[in-house]
Amino acid sequence: MNNMFKLAVLPGDGIGPEVMRQALKILNKIKKYLNKKIIINTYQVGGTAINTFGNALPEETLHGCEESDAILFGSIGGPEWDYLPLEKRPEQGSLLKLRKHFNLFANLRPAYIYDNLYSLSPLKNIIIRKGFDVVCVRELTGGIYFGEPKGVQYQPNNTYAFDTEIYYEYEIERIAKIAFNLAVKRKKKICSIDKANVLYTSVLWRRVINKISQMYDEVTLQHMYIDNAVMQLMKNPSQFDVILCPNLFGDIISDQCAMITGSIGNLPSASLNNKNFGLYEPAGGSAPNIAGKNIANPIAQILSLSMLIEYSLQNSVVAQKINNAIIQTLAQGYRTKDLVNQNTQLLNIVTTEEMGTLITQNII
Ligand code: IPM
Ligand code: MN
Repeated sequence: MNNMFKLAVLPGDGIGPEVMRQALKILNKIKKYLNKKIIINTYQVGGTAINTFGNALPEETLHGCEESDAILFGSIGGPEWDYLPLEKRPEQGSLLKLRKHFNLFANLRPAYIYDNLYSLSPLKNIIIRKGFDVVCVRELTGGIYFGEPKGVQYQPNNTYAFDTEIYYEYEIERIAKIAFNLAVKRKKKICSIDKANVLYTSVLWRRVINKISQMYDEVTLQHMYIDNAVMQLMKNPSQFDVILCPNLFGDIISDQCAMITGSIGNLPSASLNNKNFGLYEPAGGSAPNIAGKNIANPIAQILSLSMLIEYSLQNSVVAQKINNAIIQTLAQGYRTKDLVNQNTQLLNIVTTEEMGTLITQNII
């Protein structure tokens, strides 16, 4: 049956379902170019699943994902579920569980500025005009997100809480290899982020990255402390290409990279394991404040589909067709609301649905 490709679609909460609909329109249009038959199964996840099944990751959803070749994920979470204990909330109860369950340790978050969107960057023109095109490679299944013990001790006048930052050498090695292999195909430079002046995990991180770098003569490696890195990204983002980060620093840096490009609504991500199984999701959140209004930007979701086609279906030609259609649609002046500022009055503001349709039409 290797002529079939089973795709688990998990739209989730907030803007998830409406942007997912646009990605599926694209998939419907391009499926004829793929040499596999795509079987789509849709499952509930996150807060929506809590409301229906009392569980952010119901058995049926997990099982469906296990039976699939890849997961296309929307977004999860919202204030509605904030009353729940952390481990039951959509974030820990579904997304982090999926990452751990499928061993999705390698998170790739490409961020680049589109030709027509320079004016959206919050950075000064003189800085952003030098260009911005990076991939944040984030370790996704280790570090302080998953380290044990973690918890809170309530006691009279002396309540405390704790999390554990822990990294095994093998975890650092495998994410480093992903980053170096990527750097070889790009500008052959890596900036590795840590806090090695304070944290033991960072000292080990740096040592292991240095060791792996010896296998890659052609790649230039630089180390940078996280506090300096956030400054450097503001001051001169064009100096970066591949940015390699432990889990928590990658969470922070990838949002900063997103904002440098002007909108978090454009940023996709791929989370991969060592068997090339992947979960693909927008890097932005569920945006509950604009959910259901048909104004959300579907580009991050559509680019997540494009990454799925590139990595899981290993078809970069078709992935490029989607990316080109997005570039073309932006060049034609169409923008969802998040992509408009005072400098862009002459543009056509379109809805989520319209943006999805326009991009679909621009696929050739
Ligand atoms: C992300 C998100 C998640 C994270 C949340 C939703 C758990 O912010 O994918 O960056 O912190 O990893
Ligand atoms: Mn994040």
